[in-house]
Amino acid sequence: MIPMKVFLETFGCQMNILDSELIEGQLLQAGHNLVSDPKDANVVLLNTCSVRNLSEHKVLSRLGILKDRKSKGEKIVVGVLGCMAERAHDDLLKNKSVIDVMIGPSKIHETKELVEKAFYSDTLIQPQKSLSYFVNRKGKSETALMSPLDSLEALDRLRPLNTEKNNFQAYVRITRGCNKFCSFCVVPRTRGPEMHRPLQSIIDEVKKLVDNGAMEVTLLGQTINHYFFEENNKRYSFADLLFRVHEEVKHLPRLRFLTSYPKDFSDEALDVMRDCERICKYLHVPAQSGSNKVLKEMNRGYDIETYLSFIERAKSRMPDINIIGDMIVGFPNESEDDFNKSLDLLRKVQFKNIFVFKYSPRPNTIANKNLPDNIPWDVKKLRNNQMLEVQNEISLRMNENMIGKEFKVLCDSLAKIDKAPDGLVSLRNKKNLITLTARSEGDHIIHFNGPKELIGKIVTVKITQARQLSLSGELLR
Ligand code: SAH
Ligand code: F3S
Repeated sequence: MIPMKVFLETFGCQMNILDSELIEGQLLQAGHNLVSDPKDANVVLLNTCSVRNLSEHKVLSRLGILKDRKSKGEKIVVGVLGCMAERAHDDLLKNKSVIDVMIGPSKIHETKELVEKAFYSDTLIQPQKSLSYFVNRKGKSETALMSPLDSLEALDRLRPLNTEKNNFQAYVRITRGCNKFCSFCVVPRTRGPEMHRPLQSIIDEVKKLVDNGAMEVTLLGQTINHYFFEENNKRYSFADLLFRVHEEVKHLPRLRFLTSYPKDFSDEALDVMRDCERICKYLHVPAQSGSNKVLKEMNRGYDIETYLSFIERAKSRMPDINIIGDMIVGFPNESEDDFNKSLDLLRKVQFKNIFVFKYSPRPNTIANKNLPDNIPWDVKKLRNNQMLEVQNEISLRMNENMIGKEFKVLCDSLAKIDKAPDGLVSLRNKKNLITLTARSEGDHIIHFNGPKELIGKIVTVKITQARQLSLSGELLR
């Protein structure tokens, strides 16, 4: 059989990036080829995101292009994978006759099989579908523990190591799904119930990746601090997991994790972070709003006092910890006063940086059913910009405090400023030094001059210049 030429495009979060990597591994192992230009592909897969309307729009426009190609007689298989497949399957199948394969995020282990079926069969008329219908979830359901034999678990466990790609940064899933049902969010209805992976599988996977050259491993989960696993009548917590990965994979230079939920983060887990040298002092912990009224309507399950006391518990143990937040502006009924409370929160917490999202009503969510989307777009945009302005000032001040200090950084790429349009790199000076981009433990972006052989290595730089979103430094050793 002739191998397929697959183009896979990924939208959305780190979970999707990891899912795509696993799918690519599965396809490569089966002898298929990956291509970097959709025009060269006879299979185009879109790994989609549904968190905001904008994310879905991008996918719809890609589908429009693919429909044109098909109507001109090209024989291509089109697959929609991920959250949008799960959330909007009926609409997509009704209106987008271009789709041949549709696979939800909890079924991606079936990708190779279903895509091959669509590609090699001349008689199939029906699209190949594999979905979990999580969209029908009504509310909280019990956490399910994942058996090591679960076929979805096997996809993570058996991941092939991709030696061609940058292998020094890797994601490892520890938890799937979410049970929080924040009133604005689609994730519980696309990724399904919270499920935790076996502790030993996670440790084995981290070890395998580090043996293959990983310098930094990021553990992933929607509400990562909820992690627990029970085995032989023993219960292991998130703190236990962090400690064991740190202790059992001693040759891993950097361990970090995403995303923390501001409630249920134990003191034990914070103690482990403080005491384990190679765990990054870094917390991505979405606040969403600084107003208790709005937090209640969001069904976040905590008030701002709880959020601040968590930040305090973290800072009292790790004064230099870097805190990253997510904020939503323009949530239904958000008043000027509510918005100002969100700005106050930024000033109190002193985030390293934040991600600001304009509220986007999502079908099937409680907020969309019960609350009016009554903040005009212009106001959402204005609040978005005002919030970024306040944060940028805070970030600049914090970055300026780093000037003159030394940081260990992981070099990850050539700096964009030095990339010429033809892809060649312009050399800065006679010593063949090139501006590199690196990340600190706190995920600061730092540029400095050095040879490109440093990519994938950890070096020490001294900060010389600070901007709002990045810093410059000089290479020490
Ligand atoms: N815990 C998850 C959150 C997933 S969604 C994680 O792993 O990051 C990521 C962020 O998108 C949320 O924190 C929230 O700030 C934003 N978001 C989610 N639904 C949204 C919506 N309907 N409108 C605007 N922003 C939204
Ligand atoms: Fe979404 Fe809230 Fe879970 S933002 S991913 S429902 S914690």
